[in-house]
Amino acid sequence: NFSKYQVKTVFRWEISSSSILVCNYDSSAVNRAAYGQFTVSDIDPNLCTHLVYASSDIELSELVASNTADLEDYVSFNGLKTRNPQLKTLLSVGGPTFNIQKFSMMASTKINRAVFIQSVITLLRNYGFDGLNLDWRYPGGPGSQPDDKSKFTLLCKELSDAFVAEGQQTNRERLIITASVSAEKAVIDASYDITQIATDLDFINVLTFDFHGPWENVTGHNSPLYQGSQDTGNNIYSNTDFAMQYWRNQGAPSQKLNLGLAAYGRSFTLASAMTGVGAPASGPGEEGCYTGEEGFWAYYETCLYTQGVTIQWIMDQEVPYAVTENQWVGFDNSASIDIKVNYLRKNNFGGAFVWSLDLDDFNGRFCNQSINPFISQVHKLLVPGNQHTQSGTFL
Ligand SMILES: *[C@@H]1O[C@H](CO)[C@@H](O)[C@H](O)[C@H]1NC(C)=O
Ligand SMILES: *[C@@H]1O[C@H](CO)[C@@H](O)[C@H](O)[C@H]1NC(C)=O
Repeated sequence: NFSKYQVKTVFRWEISSSSILVCNYDSSAVNRAAYGQFTVSDIDPNLCTHLVYASSDIELSELVASNTADLEDYVSFNGLKTRNPQLKTLLSVGGPTFNIQKFSMMASTKINRAVFIQSVITLLRNYGFDGLNLDWRYPGGPGSQPDDKSKFTLLCKELSDAFVAEGQQTNRERLIITASVSAEKAVIDASYDITQIATDLDFINVLTFDFHGPWENVTGHNSPLYQGSQDTGNNIYSNTDFAMQYWRNQGAPSQKLNLGLAAYGRSFTLASAMTGVGAPASGPGEEGCYTGEEGFWAYYETCLYTQGVTIQWIMDQEVPYAVTENQWVGFDNSASIDIKVNYLRKNNFGGAFVWSLDLDDFNGRFCNQSINPFISQVHKLLVPGNQHTQSGTFL
C-alpha cells in the first residue's frame, strides 16, 4: 500500500508542477508621464500564461468598464491571444483603491449577486475574456460589513456554478474564476472561508507584498520571504512564507495558490543615521518620478534611484534593500526572484502572480538589464522548457 501511495504522489507532482505566471496589467498606467506610460500595445503576449486586466467597476451591482476608453482596450487586450493562442485573459474587478461598498452592496443579496453574475458573463463573452478575477480588498478588512465574509463565499460559489452552467449551455470552454486575496493573517481570518472558496476558485493569487511600508514608523521590507530575526508580536506573520503556508494549511490546495511578486519597492525617508531594517523613518520616500506616489517605486524607478549604490541583503528574510542618502527602499531583484521562484516550485505552488506589467523595466531603459527583466526572469524559471520536459518525461 505504501509503495502505491508513493507512486501516486510522484505522479501527481510531475504532472502538476508550478508553471502558472499570472501578470497584472494596470490600465491607469496609460496616464503616466513620458517613459512611464504603458499601454496594451506594450504587452508582450508571450511573457505570461495569464494576463489580468485591472480594473473594471461595479455600478448598481453590474460589472461595467471603468470608462469608455477601456472598452477599446479590452478588444486589443484580448487580441493579444492571436499572437499566443495559449494565453488566457482575465478581467479584474476591485483593487487597492476600489470603493468596497460596491462589493458589499452587490454581494448582499441573492438577487444582486445574480445581477452581477449575469453582467459578468455578458461582458466577458462580448469582449473575449477567459474569466474573472475578484480583487475585493478585503471582505473582512476595514470598511467591510459583518457578513461580507460569508457573502464572498456565496459569490464565489454562485459564480462558479453559473460559469459551469453557461459553458454547458453554450458548448464553450467554461469561464475561469479567480481571486486576489490578502496575505495578512488577521485579514485572512476575517475574510475567507478558505476550504470553500478554494473549491470554487480556479486559482488564488496571494498578495504576498505590502507587509511593510512607509505607513509604519520604522523601515521594513515590502515583501520578505521569511520572518526577520527582529520580528515580534504579529509581525512574525508578516512574510511570504507564513502567508503561503497558512493558506495551504487552512485547506487551499497548493496547486491553486500563486505566490505574489511585487515589481515595485516601498521606500521610506530615514529619520536618523541608522540605515538597517527597523531604522526609524519619518515618512514615505520621495515619489517615483513616473509613478508619482510617495513611498512607492516601480522596479524601473528603483533601478534609476539606486544606480551606483551598493545593494544590501537582509540575510534572514532573503530579500534586498538599498539606501541612497536619506532614502531606504526594500524591493526584489534578480537574486531574490530566483530564491522566491525556487521556493514556490519546491513547495509545489501553482505559480506566481506579478503586480504589475507596467512596473517592470518594460522598455529596458532604466535597469541596463534587458526588456522586462523582472518578469522575464520569473518566466524563465517557471514557464519554458520545464513544462515541456515534465510532460515529455511523463508521456
Ligand atoms: C513607532 O510607533 C510605535 C507605536 O505605534 C511606538 O511604540 C514606537 O516607539 C515607535 N517607534 C519609533 C522609532 O518612533
Ligand atoms: C550597462 O551594462 C554595460 C554592460 O554590462 C556596462 O558596460 C555599463 O557600464 C552599464 N551601464 C550602467 C549605467 O550601469
